[in-house]
Amino acid sequence: MSPRVVVTRRLPPQAQATLEKLDAEIYQWQEDSAIPRDVLLKEIKGADGLLCLLTDKVDNELLGVAGDNLKVISTMSVGYDHVDVEAVKSKKVQLGYTPDVLTDATADLTALLTLAAARRIKESIDAVRNGEWREWRPEWLCGSQFTQKTLGVVGLGRIGEAVAHRLKAFGITNVLYSGRSEKPKAAEKLQAKFVSLDDLLKQSDYVVVCCALTKETKEMFNYAAFEKMKRTAVFVNSARGGIVQQDDLVRALEDKLIASAGLDVTTPEPLSPDSKLLQLPNCVVVPHIGSATMETRDEMGLMAVRNLEAGLFGKSLPTAVYQ
Ligand code: DGY
Repeated sequence: MSPRVVVTRRLPPQAQATLEKLDAEIYQWQEDSAIPRDVLLKEIKGADGLLCLLTDKVDNELLGVAGDNLKVISTMSVGYDHVDVEAVKSKKVQLGYTPDVLTDATADLTALLTLAAARRIKESIDAVRNGEWREWRPEWLCGSQFTQKTLGVVGLGRIGEAVAHRLKAFGITNVLYSGRSEKPKAAEKLQAKFVSLDDLLKQSDYVVVCCALTKETKEMFNYAAFEKMKRTAVFVNSARGGIVQQDDLVRALEDKLIASAGLDVTTPEPLSPDSKLLQLPNCVVVPHIGSATMETRDEMGLMAVRNLEAGLFGKSLPTAVYQ
C-alpha cells in the first residue's frame, strides 16, 4: 500500500510536478490560504508524512492525532519555530527543512530593507505621491550612508554572513556580530568581530537581525535594547517577528531612540493595516517576502518534497533538522 501524505498547500511548479510523481496517496489543500487547523487535524490522522509551511503549527496535539504511522515532517522553510522540535524528535519522526537555497534571496531582501530604511524610501515615495515634492533642497529626506560605518549582525549564520557580504559592498568597513557562539570561518572572511549584544547595540550604525526565534531570542529587542542603540541607528529584522517586542519598537521609533526600521517579519502575520508600525514614516514594512523569488521558492519546494520522499521510504533526509 502506498504511504499517505498530507501537503498543506500547492507548491511552486517544479516542486508540484515532483510531488505528483511520488508513489504516495496525497491529500493536498488546494486553496491559496493556510489550511484550517480542523482540516489539518482531520487529514493528518494515520498519515505517514506531512509537508507543511511555516504557517502550520506542529505540536503535541497534531502529533497525537497523526498517530504512530507518521514517519516524516518536511517544512518548506528554513525556520522551524512553528514546530515543537523536541516533541517531534521524541516520537522518532524525521524532520526536514530547507536551508541554504533561500540564503541569497533573503540576504538580498535584507540588504534592500537596510538601504530603504537608511535612505528614507517610504517617506520619499509618500512625498512624491502626496505632492510634497518641491524644489531640490539641501537637507530634505537626507538619510545615512554606509561608507566607513559599522554593521552589527545578530546571528552570523548563512543569511547573516550573506547580508554582511552584500552591505560591505556599499562601504561598511566594520562588521560586528553576536550570537550563541563564535563563527570563525565567516568572521575571517568578513573580518568581523564577535562581541556581546550590548557592545553590538552600542557601536553599530546598522543592526540587522538574522538569528532564529528561540526561547532565548524571543523579544530580545525591547525598549531597553533600543535605548542602547545609537540615535542614528537603523534596525532591520528579516528573521522572525517574535524576536522583537513590537510595541517597544513602535515606542522606540516614536521617541526617536533609533532613526528608522525595516521589517520583513512582524507579530502577528499578516499585520493589521491599522498597525501603528504602518503609520510611522520611519518604518518600512514588507510582508515576509525574504525568500520570495520564483527560483528560490521552487528550490525550497523541491527540497521539501525530497525530504518528504526520503522520510517516507526510510532513508535519511537530505536536509534534516537532526539526525
Ligand atoms: C523561512 O523559510 O523560514 C523564511 O522565513 C521564509 O521566507
